[in-house]
Amino acid sequence: MSLAGKVAIVTGGSRGIGRATVLKLSALGATVVINYNKNEAEAKAVLQALTEAGGIGQTIQADISQLAEAQRLVDETVKSYRRLDILVNNAGITRDKLLLQMNEEAWDAVINTNLKGSYNCCKAAIRTMLKQRAGRIINLTSISGQAGSGGQSNYSAAKAGLIGFTKALAREVGSRSITVNAVAPGFIETDMTAVLAEEFKQKALAQIPLERFGKPEEIAEAVAFLASDGAAYITGHVLTVDGGMYMM
Ligand SMILES: NC(=O)c1ccc[n+]([C@@H]2O[C@H](COP(=O)([O-])OP(=O)(O)OC[C@H]3O[C@@H](n4cnc5c(N)ncnc54)[C@H](OP(=O)(O)O)[C@@H]3O)[C@@H](O)[C@H]2O)c1
Repeated sequence: MSLAGKVAIVTGGSRGIGRATVLKLSALGATVVINYNKNEAEAKAVLQALTEAGGIGQTIQADISQLAEAQRLVDETVKSYRRLDILVNNAGITRDKLLLQMNEEAWDAVINTNLKGSYNCCKAAIRTMLKQRAGRIINLTSISGQAGSGGQSNYSAAKAGLIGFTKALAREVGSRSITVNAVAPGFIETDMTAVLAEEFKQKALAQIPLERFGKPEEIAEAVAFLASDGAAYITGHVLTVDGGMYMM
């Protein structure tokens, strides 16, 4: 598998699944733009790891929940590298609460980052990909969007919406050899899940046939495959990577 000569953007590349994805795409030869929102130091550390391993890339701060910032992220990338082959819409947040206690701010923040953020980045990137008559878009959804998750109605709605968005866009741009797919992680060990109560984690663990949580690198493998030539005939697909936690 090689991504030599390809240019990729990974949103939320400073931590967790995004970080692992940046390093995997870079190891396969892609030039990678590491997007982040707040954690400049962590983004710079990812860039350092990438360059020490012989890769090429840069960091770009942008709040992808804002269309103008997503557009700037894409414009700066294309200005630097003259093309954009792979867009990984990974940036995401949670604001968990039962609906009764969930305020409008928590609803809007999660929808605006996880769902609208992916719209923003795709909207910003699609013209370049259409012109190239090639491109790979990979959206990070979740098994919470497939099965629904109590205490996460905002997050489940955003991630389910992202699956519909993935399939609709796949139909729109397939004639230009652009594929649009989603990866649906289960329970992965990152900052996002580190804050969860131990009791909740144990209950989740009991539902995983492979009897362990996933690692960010295991999600990065799936993203890299969907970005590769080997996945040229796969589009509109949701690839679940969850140790068997959610089976349809
Ligand atoms: N971990 C899991 O178990 C799991 C399961 C299913 C799906 N997922 C999905 O996988 C993706 C990555 O999750 P993770 O666990 O790796 O999360 P994480 O460790 O909390 O990292 C989140 C990343 O998103 C970035 N980000 C957040 N809001 C942003 C914004 N408005 N603009 C740009 N970047 C933003 C953060 O940047 P800063 O560092 O600058 O804050 C950070 O790099 C998310 O979409 C998540 O919903 C995760």
